[in-house]
Formats: sequence, C-alpha cells, structure tokens
Amino acid sequence: MEVHLHQARLKNDLLLRALARQPTEYTPIWLMRQAGRYLPEYNATRAKAGSFLKLAKSPALATEVALQPLERYPLDAAILFSDILTVPDAMGLGLYFAEGEGPRFERPLRDEASILRLAAPDPAAELRYVLDAVRETRRALAGRVPLIGFSGSPYTLACYMIEGSGSNDWRAVKDLRTSRPDLLHRILEVNTRAVTDYLNAQIEAGAQVVMLFDTWGGTLGTAGYEEFSLAYMRKIIAGLRGAPSIVFTKGGGAWLEDIAASGCTAVGLDWTVDPAQARRRIGGKVALQGNLDPAALTLPPENIRAHARRVLDAFGAAPGHIFNLGHGISPQARLETVAALVDEVRTYSRNLRRAPA
Ligand code: CP3
Repeated sequence: MEVHLHQARLKNDLLLRALARQPTEYTPIWLMRQAGRYLPEYNATRAKAGSFLKLAKSPALATEVALQPLERYPLDAAILFSDILTVPDAMGLGLYFAEGEGPRFERPLRDEASILRLAAPDPAAELRYVLDAVRETRRALAGRVPLIGFSGSPYTLACYMIEGSGSNDWRAVKDLRTSRPDLLHRILEVNTRAVTDYLNAQIEAGAQVVMLFDTWGGTLGTAGYEEFSLAYMRKIIAGLRGAPSIVFTKGGGAWLEDIAASGCTAVGLDWTVDPAQARRRIGGKVALQGNLDPAALTLPPENIRAHARRVLDAFGAAPGHIFNLGHGISPQARLETVAALVDEVRTYSRNLRRAPA
C-alpha cells in the first residue's frame, strides 16, 4: 500500500509510529502553526511575497516557509504551509486579509440563493497551488520527517463563510442554525464533499498524515456538536484514502470519547484537557496529540522545561503521544523558549521511556 512506501523512505518516522501507538525512542514533537510570525525568517519571506495570501499561493515560497521551523529546531514533522480558508476562497467567496484584522470574505453567505449556489471546488483546478505546495514540500523534505496536510472542519469553515470574518460569538451562524437549520446543513454537506476531495488530493500529492482543524466546534453544545460538526467529520474520515488522521476540536474536552470513536487515528487536545484523564478515557483506542498551553512559549526559556515535563508526565510513558501545543503558536513566542521546549521533550521523554512503569 502507498502508506508503506511513504513510510519506508522516511529517515524519521516517529510521528507515524506514535500515531500507530507503537513505541518510539522519544516523544515526537511538532507545533501547530510552527511556520509563522514568531520566526524572523518567516516574516522576511512574507515581506518578500508581499502578503500572507501571495505567500500561501506561491508553492515555492510556501515550501520555503514550511521548512523554516525544521532548519531551526529538530521537529519530528512538517506541516503544509497554507490556510484553512483556501477552500471557501476556491468556492468563490473572495478571501482577503485586512491589515491587523484577520481573515475576511468579500462575498459571505448572506442569503438562501448564495447558499444554494455553493459547490465543492475541484482541488486539481481551483486548489492546484496547494497541491503543488504539497508536492514541492514533500520533495524538499527528502524523507527527513513526514508531511502533514490539513483542512478546516466543515463547521469551522461554515463559521467563517457565514459570518464573513472571525467573531467572538458567531451570531450570524447561530441565527442561521435557529432560523434555517436546513440551510446550515446544506453548507455543511457541500463543505464535507469539498474537504474530503481536498484531503484526498493532498494525500495523493504526498501528504502522509492529515489533520482536521475544528477550531470552532467547541462553541457548539453537546447535541449541536454531534449534529453540526462531528457527524460531518466522521463522514470525511470514512472517505479518506490511506493516511492517518488527527482531529482537533478546540474546546472539545467534553466529547473525547465521541471524537475518538469517529474513526480518526489521533485526537488533538487543547490545553484545558487533563492529559492523564484523556489517557484513561480514550488513550487505549487512539493516539493523543497535545497539549501545552501556547502562552507558555512567551515565558523565558528557563521556565519552559518544567512545563514540558509536566505535560510529558501527565501523558505517561505508554506509546501513542505526540507532543504539541493546545492551540497554534503565538507571534509572541520566544525563539529560545521554543528551542528549550523541543530539547526538553526529546531528552526527558527518552528517560521517561526507560523508567520502570
Ligand atoms: O501550522 C502551520 O504552520 C501551517 C499553517 C497554518 C496557517 N493557518 C497559516 C497562517 C495552519 C494550519 C492554519 C490553520 C488555520 N487558519 C486555522 C485553524 C487552526 C487555528 O489556529 O485554530 C484557522 C482558524 C485559520 C484562519 C486564520 N488564518 C486566521 C484566524 C488567521 C489570522 C489570525 C492570525 O494568526 O493572524 C489566519 C492567517 C494565518 N494563517 C497566518 C498564518 C501563518 C498569519 C498571517 C500572516 O502572516 O500575517
């Protein structure tokens, strides 16, 4: 199978082994948003590109920035450099970034007609630049570490598509859910088709693992989470061709058993979840990824080692843990603190494994 071929060429396959809950010499680590504004070399490439979107739409520059964190730190995975909002952009919503304001859409879904017109894009056409970035990044990695592809979850994408920007309360989304749940489901169905095709195209282009970012699923209640987010992610996972998957629902701590039963290979934990409890609840069924509070990386380097050890101890020595943050790294993260974190995870987790159970 294709997965084995990919694996065989890897010099460092710790991520894939941890995902399979097999033993590893140390706990693999990568960081959500590891290519980003805390890195001066990222800011330089972004300036050269002219804007974030130009950077993301240039496969050569996207490859360059995807490799930057690996040049600086011995991380155990690379992640495709792109954004979750490229999918609604490819659906014609017109993504742009207003300086200092985050992402916006020129044509958000504001009426029934625009929702009924919505269609899943052909990844090989409208998202070709992403697939080119996957191929080029994979080639540039030359088997150093596995490459992670990703997408937003149908619900998280729908939040931005309906609201037209980020939001504190997602009022427009909640209003649509109350007034026309059928239209919300219609958007989610199109997004599910789009994300399934998109992730399969990334896998075909060389992504060895795929991750679903369900950043806003946690704003739903328990019944709403099943109906509007998890049910659709389950469908996507069932439609994936030959790569392990990671599901990260920010604020999803109450539903870990349900997420673990979705068919995913690993569950991403935000920093509010107690890792020992997560292990007891679902650690025998799936791998776990997480979950250091990203705020810890803004501390001086001497403080980070104790934080890292606390997270590693809480997950314990059993296989199936991938060290990560509980959410994306912030632009204020300190370079020396990130270095100390990566070093501590490697050295401390090696000993954790040797210690008697
Ligand atoms: O992890 C990585 O290094 C890969 C790259 C990546 C980006 N965005 C690049 C990016 C990934 C995996 C994402 C996912 C993403 N994008 C999510 C889900 C994960 C999460 O953080 O919850 C969401 C919600 C988005 C939407 C988005 N894109 C927002 C809200 C913003 C602005 C907020 C901010 O950090 O400024 C972006 C822009 C964005 N995406 C940047 C990067 C590096 C910063 C843009 C810049 O360079 O100015």
